[in-house]
Amino acid sequence: MHGSRSRPVLPEATFRLLRESFHDRFGLWFGDDLRFLLELRLGPRLALHGLHDFGAYQRFLRLDPRGPSELFDAAEVLTTNETYFYREPEQLRVFERDILPALERDRGGPRRLRLLSAGCATGEEAYTLAALLLGSGRFEGWELEVHGVDLSRRCLARALAGAYGEHAFRSAEGQALRHWFHLEEGRWVVGDALRRMVHFGAANLLDGEGLPRAPIDVIFCRNVLLYFDPPARRQVLRHLHARLGEGGWLLLGHAESLLQLSADFESVHLERELIFRKPRASAGAP
Ligand SMILES: C[S@@+](CC[C@H](N)C(=O)[O-])C[C@H]1O[C@@H](n2cnc3c(N)ncnc32)[C@H](O)[C@@H]1O
Repeated sequence: MHGSRSRPVLPEATFRLLRESFHDRFGLWFGDDLRFLLELRLGPRLALHGLHDFGAYQRFLRLDPRGPSELFDAAEVLTTNETYFYREPEQLRVFERDILPALERDRGGPRRLRLLSAGCATGEEAYTLAALLLGSGRFEGWELEVHGVDLSRRCLARALAGAYGEHAFRSAEGQALRHWFHLEEGRWVVGDALRRMVHFGAANLLDGEGLPRAPIDVIFCRNVLLYFDPPARRQVLRHLHARLGEGGWLLLGHAESLLQLSADFESVHLERELIFRKPRASAGAP
């Protein structure tokens, strides 16, 4: 159905069916006020598949063999991929000053660290973490891995390419990280030192598919949970908890908390930052 405008109109009932699909598959939740967003961003996808209205699009997603792949592409145009180097600097300063020394102490036996940027978008967070590990000078000779996962294949391709514009380094601390990049035709291209450490892959945080199997020491999951509803947040947190090693750290975005979502983590106040840890199995044992 077309309105007076040339783009298709998304009726209320179809909006409800569509948002259920994104919720069930990815945990993303679109409140009633976001009907316009789906209408605007998904409209062009109808034409792409030769469909004339949103009802046909919704059936296409459900019944066509290309439906599952289209659901991914649609989620991609609906999600926010905003990110930049050294985002939320207060928290990263605490990470550098308090968490890195603790990791050096705790993991000095195996001399191995595995970090995860969950919902890494175009990769700036993962490269930031790799730069902080190397720049700290604490882990010479250690086996260091930073994994970046996201559901957006388009973002992951950009993360792998590792070439960024000036704007990606807009925070003051971010600018200093350019040290790990070199300029190529006006783009800052990631150097080998970071590239060797950072691995990107597709994962869905809701079902845990694609997350690294080996125990992780630190998970950054920032500015991702806020797009989910509480049941989906709980589910994601269960997966992240399962992937963390004992004593492993979880850092969320400033707008996010574990309040009423998970009792599986202990909280640690470092400066004004609230950070979470997976307790050691022996904690609380007699
Ligand atoms: C706003 S970005 C956050 C980037 C980075 N963590 C930061 O704080 O700067 C949110 C990312 O979460 C990803 N995302 C949303 N739902 C997801 C899911 N179910 N599984 C994996 N990634 C998801 C989106 O594709 C998007 O790239």
